Formats: sequence, C-alpha cells, structure tokens
Amino acid sequence: MKTQVGIIGGGPSGLLLSQLLHLEGIDTVVLEKHSREYVLGRIRAGVLEHGFAKLMREAQCGERMDREGEIHDGFYIASGGERLRVDLAAHTGGNSVIVYGQTEVTRDLYKARDRAGGTVIHNAEDVRPHDIDTTSPWLTYRDGDEIRRIDCDFIVGADGFHGVSRKAIPNDVLREFERVYPFGWLGVLSRTPPVSPELVYARHARGFALCSLRSQVLSRYYIQVPLTDTVEDWSDEAFWAELKRRLPEDVAGALVTGPSIEKSIAPLRSFVAEPMRYGNLFLAGDAAHIVPPTGARGLNSAASDIHYLYHAFVDHYRDGDDTGLDTYSQKALARVWKAQRFSWWMTTLLHSFPERSTYDAKLQQTELDYLFSSDSALASLAENYVGLPY
Ligand code: APR
Ligand code: PHB
Repeated sequence: MKTQVGIIGGGPSGLLLSQLLHLEGIDTVVLEKHSREYVLGRIRAGVLEHGFAKLMREAQCGERMDREGEIHDGFYIASGGERLRVDLAAHTGGNSVIVYGQTEVTRDLYKARDRAGGTVIHNAEDVRPHDIDTTSPWLTYRDGDEIRRIDCDFIVGADGFHGVSRKAIPNDVLREFERVYPFGWLGVLSRTPPVSPELVYARHARGFALCSLRSQVLSRYYIQVPLTDTVEDWSDEAFWAELKRRLPEDVAGALVTGPSIEKSIAPLRSFVAEPMRYGNLFLAGDAAHIVPPTGARGLNSAASDIHYLYHAFVDHYRDGDDTGLDTYSQKALARVWKAQRFSWWMTTLLHSFPERSTYDAKLQQTELDYLFSSDSALASLAENYVGLPY
C-alpha cells in the first residue's frame, strides 16, 4: 500500500489530521492498535477551546458539537467554604469554552472518516516506522500472520504517550522533560444532573475535587487520591461521601448522587519530548506531550499541533513550500510549553501536596488570595483557560 501521510494512532489527533488533509486532497492511512469500540469506550476530558472547535468545523465535524456542546463563559474555584467565579468572557473580551466530551469528538471524527471512505485500519499490531530519516519512510503492521507495508512521504506519530513513534527517535536526539505528581484523579461518570451549571474546581485540605459535566443529565466528578489507591478501594458511596466533604456546603447539599457508570484513576503527569520532528517523522498530541488535567489543556494542546501540521502539509503539497514542516517542532513546542506552564500552575494552586512545607502551604493560599484580588491575575488565568492563540 502507498499513501502520502501515514498516521500512527486513531485518537483525536490522528483522526482530525487525517480528516483535514483529506479535505485538501491529501491521502492518509491511519493505523490504530485497538478496535474502534475500545477507543470509543475511553472516557476523557470534556472542555474544548474555540481554536479546537474551529478546527472541528473546518474538518466538517462540528455539527453535533455545535448542537449538543454547551458554551461556558465561566467556572468556579471553591476554597475555604467559599465559591468564587472566574468570568472567562469578561476577562477575555467575550471568549468562552465548549463543554463536549472528547469521546464524542472522537466518535464524530470516525463518522466523518467513514463518510469520506477514509482508510483507518483497526487492530493493527506491531506498528513500526522505518527509514524515518530518509525521504521514503515506510510503516509496517501485523494483520494476523501477515506483515503489511505502507510506503509514505511522511509519517505522523499520533499514538499517545505509550505509542511507538516517540521511541523511534534516536536516544541521542530525543530529550524528555517530566514531572510526576504524587497523586492521581479518581473520576466517576454518573447519569445524574450536574450539581452546578458551570464547572467547580475545589481546593480542600483533604484534596482537590472537580465537578464537571457532559450534559444536563450526565455528570463527571473527580477527587484527588493517593497514587497507591485503586478503583476497588472506592465504592460509589465512599466516592460521593468524600466528594461532598471537599465541596462548599451549598454545593454538597445540592449534589445528586447515583450509580457510577464509569470509574477510573488517572495519575497526574507533565511530560514533553523534544524535538517533535525527526527526519520525516512528526510527533503530535499525547505522543509528544501530556499535562495534568487540571487546566483542561490535554486535547487543546494536541489541537494546536494538528493545526500547525495540517497547514504545513498543505503548504508542502500545494505550493512546494516546506517552511511549515521545517519550523513545526519549534512552533508547536512554543505553545506546548505554555500549556505545560498553565497546567502545572493550576495543579499547584488547587491540590493538596503531601509532605509540603508550611511555607509552601502559605504560598498556595496567597496565590489564591492574589488571584481573586487582581483583575490582571484573573485575566491571565482566563486567557490561558480559553486557549492562547495559535
Ligand atoms: N500503534 C498504533 N496505534 C497506537 C499505538 C501503536 N503502537 N499505541 C497507541 N496507539 C493508539 C491508541 O490506541 C490511541 O487510540 O493511538 C491513539 C492515541 O490516542 P490518544 O491517546 O487519545 O492521543 P491523542 O490522539 O494525541 O489525543 C490527545 O487525548 O489523552 C488525551 O489529554 C489527551 O485530550 C488529549 C488527547
Ligand atoms: C472533564 O470534564 O472530564 C474535565 C473538565 C475539566 C478539567 C478536567 C476534566 O480540567
């Protein structure tokens, strides 16, 4: 088989790029390790910035997002029994975010690829990039007993944090930067009305909590837990009781509980790999960088990579202009690091850190006091939360 851009990974990054390139007449093949059911069974975050939403519309995948997604122009930060609102619109000249599940984004992208007759190969085992430092890179994957080969002009590694693409970059070239946080988030999805029409990020001595939502009948809640905890340690009753303890009284009092329909623990990690290009392999999304979920930057950070890559490939194929490809890594990383900084800052502001000094605890309180006493500080938070410009 032959294609122009071979894409490893059928998550949101790989699918969005594939769809955008298709609309520009550029051929792609997506190789996904898992089945579609598996990919669509993963519950991920649900806050989209408008830059991402615009890309979805450009990809002709925005219809359901625009119909079912909710525009949020603010959210709450709760601390010390109080709840303060961050007015995103007021501090960004009218900007906002869209609450729409990433799982739904992925579903819409798959539908679009189906409609266009795009090639997405599921259950592709042992995917490997070859000759990435040449102008004729190729991919192999195993289909049962057969090894199949795909010749490409370029390869995009959109295969997430645990993928194979990043590992194909030689050790003496690849640099990795990482911070691992000493806790995780236990998340519960429940078919209950959300406790608040807007998200509530709660700071509490017992640990952070977040009230989020997917729709008016579907809620998503999280609590900070030690890394040693497992899902089996947390019955639904224990989860709801702990969540209530960490919320201001009025919020806890309004919480409607119900059986969990999904429950999982995700460790919190910040990670960046540099460079994001090696030869004719380009990394995008979680394959190159991940953030703790506190700032809702994960998918949005992947989207800017896709934006830059998409335009770079179009310039290459349409105009023979390689400037975008040559500057991809540098441009993408500049924005990636800003999302890293913001996610680290939000995480540090709101979590309870074991073995923290009393000095650091005071600083955290002061940071929060300063935030709500300064329009400039709130504007900085809002500007980052709605997404910095590409
Ligand atoms: N071969 C083929 N596919 C692979 C391989 C492999 N060796 N390894 C992983 N994959 C697939 C995974 O099964 C997954 O479907 O690559 C896909 C990567 O998807 P994501 O992990 O969702 O990453 P990405 O598309 O970059 O999306 C970024 O996901 O985790 C969130 O916070 C993150 O919201 C952000 C978004
Ligand atoms: C979610 O709804 O899953 C969610 C929302 C905001 C975050 C993280 C996760 O910061």
